[in-house]
Amino acid sequence: MVIHKILVTGSNGQLGWELSQAATSYPQFEFVFVDRNAMDLSNPDELEGIIQLFTPSAIINTAAYTAVDKAESEKELAHTINAEAVAALAGIAKKRNIPFISFSTDYVFNGNAERPYLTDTKIEPVNYYGQTKADGEQMAIAANNNTIIIRTSWVFSSHGNNFVKTMMRLMKDKDALNIVGDQRGRPTYAKDLALATIQILIALNAGTVIKGIYHYANAGETTWFKFAEKIKELAGLECNLTAITSDQFPTLAKRPSYSVLDTDKIEKDLGLHIPEWEIALKQCIHQLTHS
Ligand SMILES: NC(=O)c1ccc[n+]([C@@H]2O[C@H](COP(=O)([O-])OP(=O)(O)OC[C@H]3O[C@@H](n4cnc5c(N)ncnc54)[C@H](OP(=O)(O)O)[C@@H]3O)[C@@H](O)[C@H]2O)c1
Repeated sequence: MVIHKILVTGSNGQLGWELSQAATSYPQFEFVFVDRNAMDLSNPDELEGIIQLFTPSAIINTAAYTAVDKAESEKELAHTINAEAVAALAGIAKKRNIPFISFSTDYVFNGNAERPYLTDTKIEPVNYYGQTKADGEQMAIAANNNTIIIRTSWVFSSHGNNFVKTMMRLMKDKDALNIVGDQRGRPTYAKDLALATIQILIALNAGTVIKGIYHYANAGETTWFKFAEKIKELAGLECNLTAITSDQFPTLAKRPSYSVLDTDKIEKDLGLHIPEWEIALKQCIHQLTHS
């Protein structure tokens, strides 16, 4: 079936919103965006009836329980949204014989690696959010072998809540900030991830076989501290930044110390050029300061 009408969940999230902005440049597709009110993933049993009303030819699930620390105390809800609902959507897509794309996280890995994680590296989450996303991956693929999962990391956008916007706000308000400097990862501009996701739809329509797990993150790697330093420079802000260790900044949920994703597979399979994270950050900050 040729993909034309695409149902996208999580329309108010960073990725959902960036997809809605990008969608206008792809008139060959009809995107239908739904928020939590129109489709609540905490009720997986109701999803099939709602999807029937839209008759989509593909489903993209950007909705998720993304509150990493809160997930430690809201385990049931986080698991329902990130695992059971994702498996239900995968099953519905299988029944309707349509593609299903959902997103996962670098937090499925334990953080002990010394080189970028491959898509088939063993997963071993160190926090409950990571566990729910890992369960979601496995349950969705078990329900529908054609499921496409894109793991991503350190997502930012001009829309929604993220590190870039928090840092810009805090740097305006405070003279000095302590930032964790011993966790390494790859920042990802949700706009670039949205464009890559649309490239998957285009490739599927061209007959390319795409299924299973992929990694997408902007090129390069950094620490939260160096990320903050770049935000400060690009936004032209004044604030004294000090690198601290994760031990000095305890959080409810443990974070992996190294969560760099290897993106070779998606680059090769889609012929993608992934922009450097600094270039992407510059675009995002420009968007934030000029709109
Ligand atoms: N953010 C990151 O740094 C990061 C890192 C790695 C992977 N990811 C993954 O990337 C994907 C996109 O993340 P994002 O950054 O766009 O997340 P986000 O900005 O937190 O957006 C998540 C969206 O999911 C919606 N949602 C939450 N509970 C829901 C429910 N019960 N029913 C329906 N919708 C619900 C939220 O609705 P409301 O707007 O109403 O709250 C929000 O719009 C997710 O799968 C996430 O796990 C994100």
